[in-house]
Parts: sequence; structure tokens; C-alpha cells
Amino acid sequence: MKVLLLGSGGREHALAWKLARSPKLSALLCGPGNPGMARFGTQVPVKPDAPEAVVALAKREKVDLVVVGPEAPLVAGVADALIAEGIACFGPVAAAARLEGSKAFAKEVMAEAEVPTADFQVFDDVAAAEAYAVARGKIVVKADGLAAGKGVIVAPDVASARAAVRTVGAMGAASQRMVLEELLEGEEVSVIALCDGERYVLLPPAQDHKRVGEGDTGPNTGGMGAYCPAPFLSPEALARVGEEVIAPMLTVMRRRGAPFRGALYAGLMLTRSGPKVLEFNARFGDPETQVLMLQLGEDLLPLLEDCAHGRLEPRALTLEPGASVGIVLAAEGYPETPKRGQEILGLEKAPAGATVFVAGAEAKGGAIVTSGGRVLTVCARGDTLVEARARAYEAVAGIRFEGMHFRRDIGARGLRAAP
Ligand code: AMP
Ligand code: GLY
Repeated sequence: MKVLLLGSGGREHALAWKLARSPKLSALLCGPGNPGMARFGTQVPVKPDAPEAVVALAKREKVDLVVVGPEAPLVAGVADALIAEGIACFGPVAAAARLEGSKAFAKEVMAEAEVPTADFQVFDDVAAAEAYAVARGKIVVKADGLAAGKGVIVAPDVASARAAVRTVGAMGAASQRMVLEELLEGEEVSVIALCDGERYVLLPPAQDHKRVGEGDTGPNTGGMGAYCPAPFLSPEALARVGEEVIAPMLTVMRRRGAPFRGALYAGLMLTRSGPKVLEFNARFGDPETQVLMLQLGEDLLPLLEDCAHGRLEPRALTLEPGASVGIVLAAEGYPETPKRGQEILGLEKAPAGATVFVAGAEAKGGAIVTSGGRVLTVCARGDTLVEARARAYEAVAGIRFEGMHFRRDIGARGLRAAP
């Protein structure tokens, strides 16, 4: 099979790494990919969120399957355009990707599907939102549109609630509309289901680390590290999430004429009254995918293909034993304004057993330099979480670039729960 993989982040590097191990793969095109992926496929310069350009490339290269990494192409209708031309696509059509593209829409579908989530109110007016936030005392403020994980402010008191509404209100187009939500407490877990519109299989639960600072402090980011399996959801509890969250969402989306084919990512808060959905994403998580690909013990390609063709066989996936940990190395200034152009040293000498996935980095004059906020995800698997963590941090120690920062507590919550 010839596969076109869209995107250029750490998630896509991990998908390329995994797809490259498939005996079914004949060629991989990365549109546009990144220098880390060059070993697994050919980098093709294409704008992933330009449907006509993607269709033209897929036709010219006669690809058998397009795998969409990021959300922007999905929201832009890349899957719709491919399907209209008879080209198989892993990734939902725009009407289904709205589950991620609009938080208000996701809430509406959750209500219809009776999926547990935080209480919320939608506001189009900053003054009304502010009055509501002040009355509630503690609140979570979310921009309605896509904001790369950064359009969310958790405000635990009145002063920060007021400030949060003003900040999100000033964000511009993405947030003329905002969602104010009940502040939920508990462990946060990401559950990703591969879906064929009707059926699904579940990847193991992973835990992301959204805040920039150790001990979950500082602003939200796209994710500073992840590990899996997260011990807070037993296999039985995971299966229940499938039945009570994923299945009803698939049913409602089908009923609405927008069957979900692709990776349905449920960001869950495990509250005292059970799992509640914080958000849906219409794609694989980043950095969750980096560790999930290390942990997946079977061929990814037929799974994605079966989803795209609506012929998935529901079952428990084969996993590697133990656990995997991934640590994001971020650029100075991330998540606000990352500093670019810093040379990355030590990339070639990652120790055996560690895998380095490239994200915000580019080749320049014979060197690899930083080009984005989240630069690398350094990953390792081990027979235990302790071992995986030790290996990953050992690999981190060999890599440096000016201004590099990372969290030293990736996986710490998991260790406390099940060492
Ligand atoms: P989201 O993009 O909606 O997942 O929000 C980003 C992050 O903000 C989540 O991963 C949580 O850490 C936090 N968050 C979002 N919604 C809530 C909520 N209702 N209660 C507590 N924390 C939340
Ligand atoms: N790691 C969170 C996300 O991919 O949205």
C-alpha cells in the first residue's frame, strides 16, 4: 500500500515510525513531514489543509490511503474532498471533525448522546460571560474555535475567572463565542478510539501533561509529555468508557449523517462521580500518539485502512508489555513565543531503547535547528513505568539546545498510583 501521511509534528513522526514497520506498506509519502520522518518516507511539499492540493497529490501519486494527522485539514474538509474522489482517508469528514472544531457543537452532541460532561453555558457576549464567571466563583473558560490547546483557562477563583473571560474575549476570531464550564477535579486521561463510523477499537489510556510547569503549574500547552497505560483506568473501566462515551457518540454522529471515521480522542476527567468528558478531538493526540505507537503491539496500517473502509473488527488490541513514556523538549518561550533557529545537539546518539520523535525542528545548513514550540518528544518503553521513565530521561540527558526546557515529572502521577 502507498500511504500519504499529512502533518509534520511529533505525532506524525510516530505514526510514520509505526507505519514503516508494516509489511503491507510499499511507500510512504509525508506531506510535508519533518526531517525526522525522512528515514521512513519521502517528504512532499504540500499544504495539508488545502483540500484541492491534497487531492491532486493523492491522485498523482496513486496513493491507496491518506492518513490525516492534525485537525486543521479535517476541519477544512480534506477527508470530504478525498472521499468525493474515491480515495480512502483515515480521518473524519468536516461535519464529524466539528466535534473538535466547535466546543459548543461537541456539547450539543454529548447532550444528545447522554455522555457525561461538565455543566456549561455558551456566551457570545463578554460582559454576560464575565457576570456568569464571577457568580460561579471558579470556572473554566474556553474559546469556541480551534486554539491548539491554548484557548482554555482554568480559573479557580473570582479574580482569575474575571481575567480569564477578558483574555479569551480578546483572542479574536476563534473566541467571539466562548464556553464557560464547571471546573472538574480528578485524574485526567486520554482515551483514543479508532473508529470506522460504526465500530471502534480502543488504544490504551494515556495521560498527557498539559501545563508547562512541573507539578501541573503555569499555562496550558499542547502537551508536555505523556505515558501509557495510565493506571487510573482499569481494562474494565476502559471498556466502560468505550460503551458509555465512544459508542453513543458514534451512534449520534451517524444519526446526524456525519459518521465518524478516524481517531476519536476523548479527554476525560475521572471525577468522584465517574469519568466526564473534557473535550473531544477528531485526531490522534500529541504527545499521546508517540507513546501509544511504542505500546501498540500490532500492525497499525490494517487498522487505519479498516477504519477508512468502514470494516473494522471490534476487539481488544494487542499491546506490548510494560509502559511507555514520552518527554517533550520545548523551546525557550513556549507556549507563548518560542525562540527558533537554535541548533539541536546530541540527536544522533540517543541510547538504545529510546526513540526520538521530531516536531518543531528543521534542517538548515547541515544542522537540525528548532523551528517550533514543541521541538522533540523523547520516548522509551520499559517493562515497568519506572524503567520506561528512567530510559526516557537518560535519553533526554544526551540532547541539548539553547533555552531547552522540559518537565522532570512526566509519569509521576502514574507512579504514585501504581509504581
Ligand atoms: P481542553 O482543550 O478542553 O481539553 O482543555 C485543556 C485542558 O484544560 C484540559 O486538558 C484540562 O487540563 C483543563 N480543563 C478543561 N476543561 C476543564 C474542566 N471543566 N475542569 C477542569 N479542568 C479543565
Ligand atoms: N495532547 C493533547 C492533544 O493532542 O490535544
